[in-house]
Amino acid sequence: HKQRIQSALLHCLSRFLPRSTSPSLPGPPSFFLIGNMMELTHDHLPIHLTNLAQRYGAIYRLKCGNTTMVILNSSEVIREALVKKWSDFAGRPLSYTADIVSGGGCSISLGDYNKEWRAQRRAVHSALQRCCRQSLHNLIERQALHLRKVLIGYQGSAVDLAEDFTVATSNVITTLALGKEYNKSSSELQQLHSCLNEIVALWGSSWFKCSKLPNPVFSRLLKEVAKRDEMIKNHLSRYKSQAKENKDTITGSLLQGLDKQHNTEHGVLLTETHVHMATVDLLIGATETTAAWLSWTVAFLLHRPEVQTRVYEELCTVLEGRYPKYSDKHRLPFLCSLISEMLRLRPVAPLAVPHRAIRNSSVAGYFIPKDTVIIPNLFGAHHDPAVWSDPYSFRPERFLEGGGGSTHALIPFGGGARLCLGESVAKMELFLFTAYLLRDFQFIPPESEASLPDLRGVASVVLKVKPYTVIASPRPMTNP
Ligand code: HEM
Repeated sequence: HKQRIQSALLHCLSRFLPRSTSPSLPGPPSFFLIGNMMELTHDHLPIHLTNLAQRYGAIYRLKCGNTTMVILNSSEVIREALVKKWSDFAGRPLSYTADIVSGGGCSISLGDYNKEWRAQRRAVHSALQRCCRQSLHNLIERQALHLRKVLIGYQGSAVDLAEDFTVATSNVITTLALGKEYNKSSSELQQLHSCLNEIVALWGSSWFKCSKLPNPVFSRLLKEVAKRDEMIKNHLSRYKSQAKENKDTITGSLLQGLDKQHNTEHGVLLTETHVHMATVDLLIGATETTAAWLSWTVAFLLHRPEVQTRVYEELCTVLEGRYPKYSDKHRLPFLCSLISEMLRLRPVAPLAVPHRAIRNSSVAGYFIPKDTVIIPNLFGAHHDPAVWSDPYSFRPERFLEGGGGSTHALIPFGGGARLCLGESVAKMELFLFTAYLLRDFQFIPPESEASLPDLRGVASVVLKVKPYTVIASPRPMTNP
């Protein structure tokens, strides 16, 4: 009790503490370079920021014109800001670009922290939970079995599986959100993906720029946002004309909820724009992330085939030929260690999404003034040599009992008020897709290729592996 009072007092004091009494944040001297850092470091900003942490420590600042950004590089300081002091750091940076992309601040991922945002996040969270309870497990199983069929169809030829992973994970969220499934060849799906990817890339490229986006880039962004809005609007109109099917999908149940909102105790009125933007959030959040993670996993397994064999043997011994259920998780420790190690080595949202201090606060004893932009470097936290031995090597064994790795130091989904809204969906997908794939196939590098996949990757908002091809060879248990 005494400790809680002390910490509350310190917390209050830090708000009024004049800047001069707090040590000043370390950081590179004059950061005129940051102007176009994304381009300077072109393909791997998280590695660059992690290298700077070796020099300046777990928390440092970067200046960009009038904006100061604070980069957090260890799970301890990230948790202090995002979890312990969540109410100080739950904001999002305000910018014209974010305003355009988020439908005037009506999205969950880019909307600023306020009463309206809280009501929207709560409504989407309960609709997602409800739909997942009804159908998520079956839905992932169905997609995993479909993926199996597609892979068998390749008949041992070397192929790039990235698009198949995207279709499988995308179908999970489009079914939950819109009640719709697509084929790889569907032009509607291709248009939706290319438009959403373009928006994320253009928005991401504006993070580390001092200047506003140049006109041609900005007009491209406006064009893609208009395309996106047209597609989502068509979906919503179709929903409204099919009232019966509405309640089984997230979007449908949110649309129905709009009518009842006058009665909410919080007195916030959500609108169709909130439903529209929440649909966009779910589609963006759930597609590229999980698919990119699956591509990373297969790429790493090609480098260490004995890990693949060990997972396969565990699946055979524990499940005796049947397909896994999510409830088998605790009986498959090596598979779970592989998943944890991949989330550690390749957190697919390596810099999360920038946060903003909504009031004066502090992190690790440093004063952080209101409106400071906070970048949680999740990639850096997962490669912190103070926490992980041999942090850059792929060793799922570290998460087995006595292996020295602790899942507590993992933070791939962020934390606090802005914790990834789809964390539980993602965890079930990663488990089931990986288990099905490794039960049914052995992944082998094509003989014709001199080298294994490049494991450095390319990072914009999502950290992706460079394209590679692989042979999916069916295991004996796999019936065609
Ligand atoms: C936000 C990671 C899958 C929906 C985030 C954030 C991270 C993250 C790091 C930012 C947290 C922050 O701002 O501090 C991941 C990873 C995934 C994944 C690693 C898979 C491997 C999903 C899925 C969905 C989803 C499947 C939807 C079903 C969202 C949404 C946000 C978000 C809506 C914005 C939350 C907010 O601003 O309040 N995710 N995500 N994500 N994610 Fe995920």
